[in-house]
Amino acid sequence: MNSPASAPAPSQDEQKAQVGRAALAHVGRGDIVGVGTGSTVNKFIEALATIKDDIRGAVSSSAASTERLLALGIPVFDCNEVEELAVYIDGADEIDGRGYMIKGGGAALTREKIVAAQSRRFICIADASKRVNTLGAFPLPVEVIPMAARRVIRQFARLGGVARVRERDGVALVTDNGQHIVDVTGLRITDPLGFESEVNQWPGVVTVGVFAHQRANVCLLGTASGVQTLRFD
Ligand code: A5P
Repeated sequence: MNSPASAPAPSQDEQKAQVGRAALAHVGRGDIVGVGTGSTVNKFIEALATIKDDIRGAVSSSAASTERLLALGIPVFDCNEVEELAVYIDGADEIDGRGYMIKGGGAALTREKIVAAQSRRFICIADASKRVNTLGAFPLPVEVIPMAARRVIRQFARLGGVARVRERDGVALVTDNGQHIVDVTGLRITDPLGFESEVNQWPGVVTVGVFAHQRANVCLLGTASGVQTLRFD
């Protein structure tokens, strides 16, 4: 007799879908929801569309997310139209055991940090591959004003980092804000709060992709055995 087959472990894509759906539990009736950017958030946007009649709409962190929200019939408000948001839901490239993150793999870090700062709670949704002990293995994105790029690259070299301007199709990628992204490898960020404060005051840096001052309150982590909830407050 065959023994019952155990369910296969969810793929990375399914983990993203699971945390996207789980994030709905953090959305309140009548909310305007802060919405991040990326493949995990795309799953959340699909889930959000199923309750779109129960919310007022969203504030979006990128042109890409705005397009998806509008396509699914979710109204998008300008950030300046809204005083405060109850919740911001976004992915991460890395998240540590204190809720500190690296973000910006999708080049939307500046708008993400603005919307996160405007929100009372940050719910990070991520698959298990994003959970790290120390930030820095993922190339750290930094949005820079183009004329400062070389100088910022030299400053990272002094910290032991190797930085380069992100390109798409052989030319420097231009963000939604008309700026460039520098990606930095070789860093081990043991003091995310201090590091974020330091780099953010370098001339020409628009935003560094360390989210320590805007850390996550909760992480919904997709794992092989289901969604784990990590709380940081
Ligand atoms: C976008 O700029 C990023 O901050 C994303 O939140 C991050 O890169 C996670 O993206 P994925 O959900 O696609 O991994």
